[in-house]
Amino acid sequence: MLEVKGLKKVYRSGSREVEALRDLTFTVDNGDLVCLVGPSGCGKTTLLRCISGLLEPTSGDVKVNGKAVAGPPPGMAVVFQEYGRSLFPWMSVRDNVELPLKQKKVSKPRRAELVEEALDAVGLTGTETAYPWQLSGGMQQRVAIARAVAYEPETLLMDEPFAAVDAQTRADLEDLVRKLWQRLKVTVLFVTHDIDEAVYLGRRVVMLSSSPTVVQDELVIDLPAERDQLHTRADPRFIELRTRVYEQIQLAKKAAAK
Ligand SMILES: Nc1ncnc2c1ncn2[C@@H]1O[C@H](COP(=O)(O)OP(=O)(O)OP(=O)(O)O)[C@@H](O)[C@H]1O
Ligand SMILES: [Mg+2]
Repeated sequence: MLEVKGLKKVYRSGSREVEALRDLTFTVDNGDLVCLVGPSGCGKTTLLRCISGLLEPTSGDVKVNGKAVAGPPPGMAVVFQEYGRSLFPWMSVRDNVELPLKQKKVSKPRRAELVEEALDAVGLTGTETAYPWQLSGGMQQRVAIARAVAYEPETLLMDEPFAAVDAQTRADLEDLVRKLWQRLKVTVLFVTHDIDEAVYLGRRVVMLSSSPTVVQDELVIDLPAERDQLHTRADPRFIELRTRVYEQIQLAKKAAAK
């Protein structure tokens, strides 16, 4: 289980202070798929960096399976917002996906298997020897997802992973995330500013306010587990849920403007 309690982060540089997160509390159960939705600049990336142990919170704490996070927790993989910068340009697709497995000391034959399976799962079979810069943005993003999946994480954090791809690729990648989540029983925390995406993907949606950033509301997405882009998005219940999320976020904006 992932627990975030009273999390606060203030960035300080010289005399300038930015309060990125004021007071965040929420939990993600093992095996759940939770979407975090909030406006640009509300501190989503900051939150993920605190959860993945890359950034120290000003106060409050993050626990993974009861243990306080101090440095990157084992079994956690992150797909960053700026995937272009998260792949190594001098390494082939295969080497990029394999690298964390080497660090995890997985045997060579098993590494080959995991790399092949992960590339297959994201539809990139055949690109093993290409370099990231020879691929389109959407393909690079799929390499980043394959790398996270090959690692066989217990927890997968994704930071607006589809913000830079076209609508069609985005729809395919959304379905891919749900499929992988169902198949691998991994715990997923998916961050997005897109309300429809949050409702389509999530089993739960946590809404953040804009600064000062707190948890505004939470919603269980009681749509059937089998979802597809056409029918789910046209389902009256989907429309009801997205309206609820939209209203909460508008309320949060108004409160922040006061
Ligand atoms: N290293 C830093 N130093 C100072 N301020 C920072 C730093 N990183 C982020 N901030 C500030 O913290 C706030 C939250 O930033 P963050 O990147 O976490 O937002 P976000 O919700 O991920 O935004 P987006 O949706 O645009 O990715 C912003 O006001 C930002 O300017
Ligand atoms: Mg961000």
